[in-house]
Amino acid sequence: MKLVRLGSETDFEGWRAAARVLRGLGVPPAEVAWTVGGEGDLFGELVTPQATAPAFAAPREFIDLARPVILHRAPERFGLLYHLLWRLAREPHLMRIASDRLVARVHDFAHQVGKASHKMKAFVRFRRVEDEAGREAYAAWFEPAHRVVEATAPFFAERFPNMKWSILTPDGCAHWDLRRLAFSPGLDASHRPPDDALEDYWRTYYASIFNPARLKVGAMQKEMPKRYWRNLPEARLIPELISAAEARTVDMVAKAPSEPSRRVVRLAQKVARDGAYGQDVPTSLEEIAASVDLCRRCGLWRDATQGVTGEGPAHASLMLVGEQPGDQEDLAGRPFIGPAGQVLDRALAEAGLPRDRAYVTNAVKHFRHELRGKRRIHQTPDAGEVRSCRGWLDAERRLVRPRVIVALGSTAALAVFGKPMPITAHRGQAIQLPDQAQGLITYHPAYLLRLPDEAAKAQAYAAFVEDLKLAWRLAA
Ligand code: URA
Repeated sequence: MKLVRLGSETDFEGWRAAARVLRGLGVPPAEVAWTVGGEGDLFGELVTPQATAPAFAAPREFIDLARPVILHRAPERFGLLYHLLWRLAREPHLMRIASDRLVARVHDFAHQVGKASHKMKAFVRFRRVEDEAGREAYAAWFEPAHRVVEATAPFFAERFPNMKWSILTPDGCAHWDLRRLAFSPGLDASHRPPDDALEDYWRTYYASIFNPARLKVGAMQKEMPKRYWRNLPEARLIPELISAAEARTVDMVAKAPSEPSRRVVRLAQKVARDGAYGQDVPTSLEEIAASVDLCRRCGLWRDATQGVTGEGPAHASLMLVGEQPGDQEDLAGRPFIGPAGQVLDRALAEAGLPRDRAYVTNAVKHFRHELRGKRRIHQTPDAGEVRSCRGWLDAERRLVRPRVIVALGSTAALAVFGKPMPITAHRGQAIQLPDQAQGLITYHPAYLLRLPDEAAKAQAYAAFVEDLKLAWRLAA
């Protein structure tokens, strides 16, 4: 048995150097035990990670995956990664086999770590404190689901470069002194900074952006899981805000699930496995929302924060279908709230069509993108991904039963009509769909944003507003 002691729980370089030595020596995964720190006398021959160990070519995609996976809390992560690396020597294309159990498990770990980092970006709340010299500083207490503090701290340095701050966590603490980032060991919860006036600010802000008509308890709890509530000043408002909204939306709140039911989990697993629901079709929009988040029919779930389904009245007469959630929609779990959503909102207002009378959704429910530096750049979903996701749109159509469905752009048209429908050839005409609805095709709002020529942009925008007016007339 070979024994590897890593320097810390997040010692990626140590793991990499040890894995090099072990692979060079031909040690199979079953004969390696991985531990962190300490002196104790565990059985086995100690392997010392060496930076000079013989190099081997691990594919880039493996290394990119291994870095976040090391931050996962599961103790088996080191062994799983070594096992994957071991198999890659004989199965060079293994990383592309998404159905392989080991590959899927490691991707799952990376996905969970990504989510933990997103949650940290969303839920860290700084409180005003004083530094050693009595100057203004800020501190936040946070308990991340995985060990993402060091990896996520640069985000805060970029966002709050002019604030002296510390983020304290049980795993480790990050400090920004206006010039550079530093890290220190973790603390226990007694170091949570005291309440202060900033809390009132957050609470006022949160209460002002809270819209009872849009209340989705299930989605809200998913986006702001209870584990983070105790550190969030605004979370204290949640029960009050929910009960106030209840008076107007009793029905909706009563139906909203806080956890996916077993039926939903079964349904999503069935879709992922068989590619169809069979007899087991979703019976409510809440069920679709929970199932979409668990859907594994294509690989897009891996890099997305969550599945984003539609929102709007459960029996809206008009359905608007976009392409896929964008960066902001992926983080918030709601369709069309980013720049394209703003164009859509403006055009809807000009067409006299209140957005909250339409059911707004997308052809593809997970955000397809590629990373360029820190930016997540939109990528158009391919026909296979549209096909894989079509079951969810069809389920929304079956439940909402709109009179008119507007496809915004060509990806939406492919999903709504089941075949490519060029926009210019079909714009402005109602086309009968098999489910009794009439279909319309128009531009995607993001296309309007991208048009370089101002005159062409104004013309396309005017046509877009006309198309929405026609849709609203037909739906009325
Ligand atoms: N673009 C879309 O097609 N849908 C969204 O939800 C956001 C941007």
